[in-house]
Amino acid sequence: MLKGFIAGVAACAVAGLVGAYLFVVLGMMPANADGRPPALEKWAARKSLHATIERQAPKGPNPVAADDKNMIAGIGIYRENCAVCHGGADGAPSNIAVGLYQHAPQLAKHGVEDDDAGETYWKVFHGIRMTGMPSFHHTLSEEQIWQVTLFLQHMDKLSPKAEKAWKAVPSQAPAKA
Ligand code: HEC
Repeated sequence: MLKGFIAGVAACAVAGLVGAYLFVVLGMMPANADGRPPALEKWAARKSLHATIERQAPKGPNPVAADDKNMIAGIGIYRENCAVCHGGADGAPSNIAVGLYQHAPQLAKHGVEDDDAGETYWKVFHGIRMTGMPSFHHTLSEEQIWQVTLFLQHMDKLSPKAEKAWKAVPSQAPAKA
C-alpha cells in the first residue's frame, strides 16, 4: 500500500519534471521582452524583492553627508549611468526605457524619495533580477552608490546649486525626426 503510494508520488514528480523540461525546450516559456509580465510572475518578483531587501538592505541613514558636493557627485553618476533608463529632469523616457520588459520608472516623475536609503542602496548595488536594472557594485564604489542614493533621496528638494546640475542632465527623449 505504502509502496504504491510512494511509486505514485515519484511518477507524478517525474511527469512534472518532464513537463517543465518540455515547456522550456519546446519554446513555450516566453523569451520575448515585448509582452507584459503575467500577474503570478509579477507577484513572485515583487514579494521576493521586498523580502530580500528586508533581510539584506543596510539599516540606518545614508552615511554620506547631504551637502552640495555629494549631491552634485550623485547627479554626475546618475547622468553617466542611470539617465539612459530613468530619464532626465523632464521625465521623458528614452527608447530603451520604453522597450524594457519591466518599464524603467522615470524617476523625475515617479521618484523614490520616500524609500529608505538602504533600500535604494541595495537596488543600485545588486540590481533587480528579471528586470533591466543592472547591478553597479562592479563598476561604482560604495561611496558613489551612496552619493547617487543621496541624490535620489533628495531629488524633489534640491539646493539651488544641485537643482541647476540636475536640470543640466540632457533629456533622454528620442530626437524628433
Ligand atoms: C538598462 C536600464 C537601467 C539602468 C541603466 C538603470 N536602471 Fe534602475 N531600473 C531599471 C528598471 C527596468 C527598473 C524597474 C525594476 C522593477 O520593476 O522592479 C529599475 C528600478 C530602479 C529603482 C527602483 C525604482 C522603484 O520605483 O522602486 C531604483 C531606485 C533604480 N532603478 C535606480 C537606478 C540607478 C541609481 C541607476 C544608475 C546608477 C539605475 N537605476 C540604472 C532599469 C535601469
